Amino acid sequence: MRIDVIGGGPAGLYSAILLKKSFPRARIDVVERNRPDDTFGFGIVLSDATLANLEAADAPTHREIAANFAYWDDIHVQFKGEILASTGHGFSGIRRLTLLEILQRRARELGVALRHSCEDGGPEAHRGADLVIAADGINSATRERWKDRFRPSVDQRTNRFVWLGARMDLPAFFYSFREHAGGIWNMHAYQYTPGECTIVIETTDEAFRASGLAIDDEAGTVRLVERIFADDLKGAKVLANRSHWRQFPTISCASWRHRDGDTHYVLLGDAAHTAHFSIGSGTKLALEDAIALHDAIAGCDSIEQALADYESARRDEAGRIQHSANVSLVWFENVRRFWEMSPTQFNVSLLTRSKQITYENLRLRDPVLVASATRWWNAREASRLGLADVDVHAPNAAGRAGTATDAGAGKAPPWLDAPPMFAPFRLRDLWLSNRVVVSPMAQYSAVDGMPNDWHLVHYGSRAVGGAGLVFVEMTCVSPQARITPGCLGLWSDEQAEAFARIVDFAHANTEARLCLQLGHAGRKGSTQLGWEKMDWPLEPDRAERRGERNWPLVSASPIPYRDGVNAVPREMSRDDMDEVIEQFCRSAILADRAGFDMLELHMAHGYLLASFLSSVTNRRRDGYGGSPENRLRFPLEVFAAVRAVWPARKPISVRISATDWIPDGNTGDDAVRIARALKSAGCDLVDVSTGQTDPASKPVYGRMYQAVFSEQVRLEAGIPTLAVGAVTSADQVNTLLLSGRADLVALARPHLADPYFTLHAAAEQDWRGIGWPVQYHPGAEQLHITMRRRLLT
Ligand SMILES: Cc1cc2nc3c(=O)[nH]c(=O)nc-3n(C[C@H](O)[C@H](O)[C@H](O)COP(=O)(O)OP(=O)(O)OC[C@H]3O[C@@H](n4cnc5c(N)ncnc54)[C@H](O)[C@@H]3O)c2cc1C
Ligand SMILES: Cc1cc2nc3c(=O)[nH]c(=O)nc-3n(C[C@H](O)[C@H](O)[C@H](O)COP(=O)(O)O)c2cc1C
Repeated sequence: MRIDVIGGGPAGLYSAILLKKSFPRARIDVVERNRPDDTFGFGIVLSDATLANLEAADAPTHREIAANFAYWDDIHVQFKGEILASTGHGFSGIRRLTLLEILQRRARELGVALRHSCEDGGPEAHRGADLVIAADGINSATRERWKDRFRPSVDQRTNRFVWLGARMDLPAFFYSFREHAGGIWNMHAYQYTPGECTIVIETTDEAFRASGLAIDDEAGTVRLVERIFADDLKGAKVLANRSHWRQFPTISCASWRHRDGDTHYVLLGDAAHTAHFSIGSGTKLALEDAIALHDAIAGCDSIEQALADYESARRDEAGRIQHSANVSLVWFENVRRFWEMSPTQFNVSLLTRSKQITYENLRLRDPVLVASATRWWNAREASRLGLADVDVHAPNAAGRAGTATDAGAGKAPPWLDAPPMFAPFRLRDLWLSNRVVVSPMAQYSAVDGMPNDWHLVHYGSRAVGGAGLVFVEMTCVSPQARITPGCLGLWSDEQAEAFARIVDFAHANTEARLCLQLGHAGRKGSTQLGWEKMDWPLEPDRAERRGERNWPLVSASPIPYRDGVNAVPREMSRDDMDEVIEQFCRSAILADRAGFDMLELHMAHGYLLASFLSSVTNRRRDGYGGSPENRLRFPLEVFAAVRAVWPARKPISVRISATDWIPDGNTGDDAVRIARALKSAGCDLVDVSTGQTDPASKPVYGRMYQAVFSEQVRLEAGIPTLAVGAVTSADQVNTLLLSGRADLVALARPHLADPYFTLHAAAEQDWRGIGWPVQYHPGAEQLHITMRRRLLT
């Protein structure tokens, strides 16, 4: 077997080593354009988990690597002159050149032919090879040569960064944030050997340009870095080594394999995928790719099959790391957003930025940090919301009946130590007993918009389940405003009475407050029930059998939701707008009569009001289309009219799609503009959802994937927000609150599976300050005991 390796970086060398060990008779050649002692950059970091993988794959290299490591457990963050320390992080640093030398020595010892100072000769040079491992790095020529086959995509990021060294010792991984040239400059620094550190400096492109530095001005860079970070460097000399200011490209490839005649090619490491340096995983990915490639080849007779196995084994993991790295790099691109945070919260926000470290994970690493940050957060929230004179365990005492706040005999612990999800919250005169929200979820179970027993039991049990706020699904302001024939409506006294039955039940038996979401479907109306063909028009035959038929639609512009499928809506006239405003007001008055504590106006998901906000769906040429201000006009008119009829003591929230996930559609910046306008109009809370504007939306899903928009709106528009979307655990709720990404957190689907999500979360965290219905106290007590035992074992 003949294996050619292009590139003598970590991926190329390590794959050559592992394959030569398993196939001693194979001819394995590595070509590397640099000299053996030539390397860009200084040190790299590896986590404990990666080290364990290296030990299992090749003990001799692991021994040498481990012998050369600088190890640290702590992270120090310098922010506005304060140093914030945390511990339990477990990382090791090594000089990149030392790592390469260890790998080169081992490769030679095993009989791998290393040719340094040698440029790859291209496909001709590899004729006759069974396998070519293209480990030729971020600018891979192999990937470019067969780009039709590998189909790379590049997301070129905007921030500028430079990789430098410094002659100093550091007790911890160190971040420092300093202002200069109108921007924030951050230093990521770690020691890789006594007296030497890697320092990566990063800033926005605007600040970099304002600094007047040239991209390749190494001497100027060293001078500037020494000046900006003088207090951190304390006189240490900064070192350059081909230290040019670059912008990070996140590279992904649709395929990592190619066959050229009888020769198979495979991409490894940075050639296949890059991950932003802020999570320090590039070398880890490269080494772990090499392990997976070796395992696939060793475990199978056909190279073709082995490469397919390698790709399927690695693709998910590489994608997961890239996703975390992307989330992390977005944090660093937006440091300005966090600049007004208190140092404590800034530190938590930084540590939890990639969502891999959460509240509970951080507690495992550093329980003291989490305890003190939680105390700080509770105290800050108490003073911000005027809790000083309120019994935090009984914020709804006036309205509560038939419940008790303290389950069983256990005594509530001091409220300052409450996990953030159990902190009360206030909007106008409305107190919520905790921060968990049941997100609106259509039940498609109404006839003529009337709530029935299903709705009573469904909403009743969610209210019993402990969430502070329970949303009632999108309730439509007229029969034509419905999404489906099964949607709830509120245009008659009978409907208001039926809703009052639900609200009264919740108020009489639980601490939950109820919010009604009012909406108009617009161009997404007249469609089948959620569990039929969602967003598709009613099928005439079936509809007729049920006594239904499609109804005419209105929208901002006459654009159907799906061309040739959904009906073309009528572009709303001024008269239509006045009629809809009246309908919203009528519903709001009825909602107050039904006893709802709060209203939400639905301006998201492509429904009528959202269709005005997005340029994808609003092509009007009058004063209600065109500029962002014009597109906001009608939604704001509706908001103002509803605000005027809704009691001043009761809050109103607005749900928005913070991004359309469509090129040229609304983005997070538009969401901030919309939120600022809503705030000026008297909106109390923005419920930050995304997408569903148009079938062209391409959302990027992941854990808590919409929370970054909630964070942006909250911090940039200065309005309370509710985060929602793929939040599934109490740990995530606590993380989002403590790190300042939201004021409230909504869960939708998890509440379908577990109406008692909040009560269960309280038992899991052994938190006693929550109201179980008195009827259920024996069960509550047992659950607390079971959970506590589980915590102790
Ligand atoms: C600022 C910065 C900081 C980083 N910090 C870290 C960190 O802390 N931890 C971490 O794990 N990773 C870090 N990385 C990333 C890490 O350096 C890379 O992800 C890792 O080196 C990838 O290994 P590789 O073998 O795939 O590619 P490389 O290390 O880039 O190796 C590719 C090799 O191929 C050679 N080559 C390319 N083309 C040819 C050719 N035509 N002929 C011959 N030779 C060729 C190159 O000279 C190079 O030596 C950082 C990167 C940057 C930019
Ligand atoms: C069955 C179902 C019905 C929904 N109905 C509504 C609705 O009436 N109004 C609304 O704004 N969002 C609605 N949504 C969206 C949810 O409120 C929520 O934003 C979304 O499901 C993401 O949260 P999750 O990941 O916790 O499920 C619905 C979601 C589901 C699953």
